[in-house]
Amino acid sequence: MKKVLSGIQPSGQLTLGNYIGAIRNFVELQHSHECYFMVVDLHAVTTPQEPEALRENSASVAALYLASGIDPQKASVYLQSHVPAHAELGWLMTTLTYMGELERMTQFKDKSAGKSSIGSGLFVYPALMVADILAYNTDLVPVGDDQKQHLELTRDLAQRFNQRFGDLFTVPEPYIQKVGARIMSLDDASSKMSKSSPNPASFISMLDAPDVIRKKISRATTDSGREVKFDPANKPEISNLMSIYAGCSGLSLQEVEAKYEGEGYGAFKKGVAEAVVSLLEPIQQRYYEIRESGQLDAILAQGAEKAAVTANATLREVKQRMGFRL
Ligand code: TYM
Repeated sequence: MKKVLSGIQPSGQLTLGNYIGAIRNFVELQHSHECYFMVVDLHAVTTPQEPEALRENSASVAALYLASGIDPQKASVYLQSHVPAHAELGWLMTTLTYMGELERMTQFKDKSAGKSSIGSGLFVYPALMVADILAYNTDLVPVGDDQKQHLELTRDLAQRFNQRFGDLFTVPEPYIQKVGARIMSLDDASSKMSKSSPNPASFISMLDAPDVIRKKISRATTDSGREVKFDPANKPEISNLMSIYAGCSGLSLQEVEAKYEGEGYGAFKKGVAEAVVSLLEPIQQRYYEIRESGQLDAILAQGAEKAAVTANATLREVKQRMGFRL
């Protein structure tokens, strides 16, 4: 069975972008693949996190995985820090990664722009992501568009290691959907919808109440036309709302276009809001049940235990090949 791995940072409330770009694909792939879905808490601390917020957000991301339909009997769901092999393999991968490669990472450039004290972890972060993926000989990595460059680095490092120390790693492929791989902000279609945005009106949190969702979508920026048409170059805001509609409802972009032919933006926005609410309401209900059940920690411990077997075996083999005395 082919292997799938992915992760999400517990650095804030998950957004609809995280769901459409990542989680909905996790849910689909678990039926046909051996899956590992992590909450990447070690990645989250590459930018400052309040300790209590990190603890809460880590539980929240894990519960949202489960509430969205990830079945812990099918997929390993766990916290990255609970499998220490990630950090150790991350260090080894850092030593094989060139400064120039890390300097080219656009996500580092974006996240460090205009900041004066940048933690060095933010710079070497992609090497830890490489370790996450290679630790399981992952075949497929479901991610949004913004992670593509990190995946290319992972492929390069797998090949570099194999050449230098003998064939070991599978060279992984990204799994990026055509629709919804980059959901944009509601107030600015030139920037990505992000959980770390300071403006809550720019994103829909997976835990926003239905009325908040309706209000945010009704206030989303649009052009001054009337035609509901997918045309990202000329109609970026409407195209983004169409991707959201399609990503939440399962309809194709053509079907959305056909449904709103001849209707104005008002009716369309109402439709988008209802598609989002009907997706998120049941997820939210399950989310609160899971948080209240008190079972989350046991599920995460079980996931980590299972994952550690594979990750430890890979780490041991890597250390053996690199010349460590075992
Ligand atoms: P993170 O936490 O920034 O995002 C988690 C996932 O959500 C996707 N995503 C989006 N997709 C569409 N539209 C958006 N607006 C949007 N915002 C976020 C991201 O592409 C990602 O798939 N480095 C990773 C986490 C990571 C990881 C890994 C991923 C660590 N180790 C190993 C895969 C495999 C990150 O910061 O994602």
